Amino acid sequence: MTDPRVGDMDPESFRRWGGEVVEWIAEYMESRESLPVLSRSRPGDLRALLPEHPPEEGEDPSVWLEDFRSQILPGITHWNHPGFLAYFAISGSGPGVLGEMLAAALNVNGMLWRTSPAATELEEHVVGWLAELLGLPASTFGVIQDTASSSSFAALAAARHQAFPRVREEGLAGAGPGRIYASEEAHSSIEKAVIALGFGQAGLTRIPVDAQFRMRPDALAEAMAEDEARGVRPVAVVATLGTTSTTSLDPLTDLLPIARRHGAWVHVDGAYGGAAAVLPELRHHFAGWDEADSIVVNPHKWLFTPVDCSVLFTRRREVLRESLSLVPEYLRSREEDVTTSLMDYGLPLGRRFRALKLWFVLRYFGARGIRERIAHHIELGQRFGRLVDDAPDWVRVAPVPFSTVVFRWKPGEGEWSGQDLDQMNLRIMEAVNARGQLFLSHTRLAGRTCIRVSVGNLETRWSHLETCWTQLQEEVARVEAEFSPAP
Ligand SMILES: Cc1ncc(COP(=O)(O)O)c(C=O)c1O
Repeated sequence: MTDPRVGDMDPESFRRWGGEVVEWIAEYMESRESLPVLSRSRPGDLRALLPEHPPEEGEDPSVWLEDFRSQILPGITHWNHPGFLAYFAISGSGPGVLGEMLAAALNVNGMLWRTSPAATELEEHVVGWLAELLGLPASTFGVIQDTASSSSFAALAAARHQAFPRVREEGLAGAGPGRIYASEEAHSSIEKAVIALGFGQAGLTRIPVDAQFRMRPDALAEAMAEDEARGVRPVAVVATLGTTSTTSLDPLTDLLPIARRHGAWVHVDGAYGGAAAVLPELRHHFAGWDEADSIVVNPHKWLFTPVDCSVLFTRRREVLRESLSLVPEYLRSREEDVTTSLMDYGLPLGRRFRALKLWFVLRYFGARGIRERIAHHIELGQRFGRLVDDAPDWVRVAPVPFSTVVFRWKPGEGEWSGQDLDQMNLRIMEAVNARGQLFLSHTRLAGRTCIRVSVGNLETRWSHLETCWTQLQEEVARVEAEFSPAP
C-alpha cells in the first residue's frame, strides 16, 4: 500500500512531463522570434486570470502546463529573443539552461564545503577559469553571487571593514564619517549598497564625468583631498568599466593612484563590460583592473549564462571574509579550516549551485567560441553605430567601445524644442517596441532623452539591426507627421 502522505511526483510522471517541458523549450528556441519580444500585457492582466485561492487538491501537470502556455507566456518579455536590444541584451544559452535544470534537480545549498563538496570546488575552479579568460591571474579568488548588486554590496562591505575595522562590533555610530566615490554614471546598485551599509546617500559622492561619460580624475582627486582635510574617511572608489547608459570606461589607471593616496579600496564594476576582456585586443580598456581590490563581472549579462550569475573577484579575500563571515555552532564543520565556506563571502547563507551552468557554458562554447561571439556582437554594434553616424537627422551621443549604441533623432531642420525632441524620441522608440519584433530602451544623457540599442543575444544577426534601423526611420516619419508639442 502506498502512503499518500509520502512522496514526490513519481519518476514515471517526471519523465513524461519533463520530456514535454524539454520539448517545449526546444520548440521555444526555434520559434521565439514569432513572439512579440516586449510583452503586450497590461497591468493586472495576469492577476485577473489567476484563481483567488490555491487549489485544495493537486492538479494534473497537463492543466498547469497549459496555463503556463495560455496565461503566463503572454506576460513574458522575451529576454531570450534575438530582437531584444534593450537594457543589456543577454542570453540564457542552451548549455546554461541544461545547467539550471540539473542544479534544480540536485537542489544543492552550497553554503559549506560539506553541504556539497562539488558545488564549492567547482565554483572555486570555474571562477579561476573565468579569471583566466578575462586576462586576470587564474589564482584570483572569486565567488559567485546572485547579481552585481550583491557583489558590489559585498565588495563595499569589505571596503567598509578595511576603513573601520571595528564596524562589525560597534557599527558606524561612533566612527567618523566615511565616503564612497563613484561617477555620475555609476549604476544605482552602488548607491543602494552605500545606503545598506549605513553611510546614507550623503556618503556617496558622485564625481562628474567628461564629455565621454568617464569619471574625471581631477574631480575625484579634488573631492577626496577636500574630504580628507575635513576628517572624512575615504572608504572606496568605484570605477565602472562599461557604464549602464553608454558603456563608457572610467580611466582606471588614472584613478588608482588617487584612490591609493587616500588609502581607499578600489572596486571595479564590470558587470556588463567586463565580459569584453575575453578579447586580448580590448584588454587596454581594462588596464589596471588586476590592481583593483575587487571586480564584479556578470556572466548573466554578456557571458551567455542564465540569470542569475555574478562573479565577485577580489585580491583581498581575507578582508572580505572578515567583513561578512559569521559562523554559529550549527554551521561548524570538521573540515572548515582546510576548505572554503562560500557562505563567508556574501550576505546570504544559502546559495544555489550556479557554478554548474557557468561550467557548462564555458565547456560548450570554449574560450574561442566565447571570444568569437563577443567579437561578433561588438562588430554588429559598431556597424549599427556607423549607420547612425551616416544618417543626417540622427546623432550618436556616446562612443561605442562595445556593442551598445546610444543615439537620438535630432533633425537639423524643424521647429522642435529639446523637450519636443525628447518626447518624439520616446514615441519613436515606443512605436518600434509596439510592433513586436524588437525591444529598445532609453536613457537620459546630458539632460536629453536618447535611445539605446544593445547587442548581446546569441541569436541576434545583422538583419535584426537592419530591421531596427528601417523601423526607426518609418516611425520617425509617422511621429513627425502626428506630433504636436504640448501647449
Ligand atoms: C554597470 C552595471 N552594474 C551593475 C548592474 C546591476 O546588475 P544586477 O542586476 O546583476 O544587480 C548593472 C545592471 O545593468 C549595470 O549595468
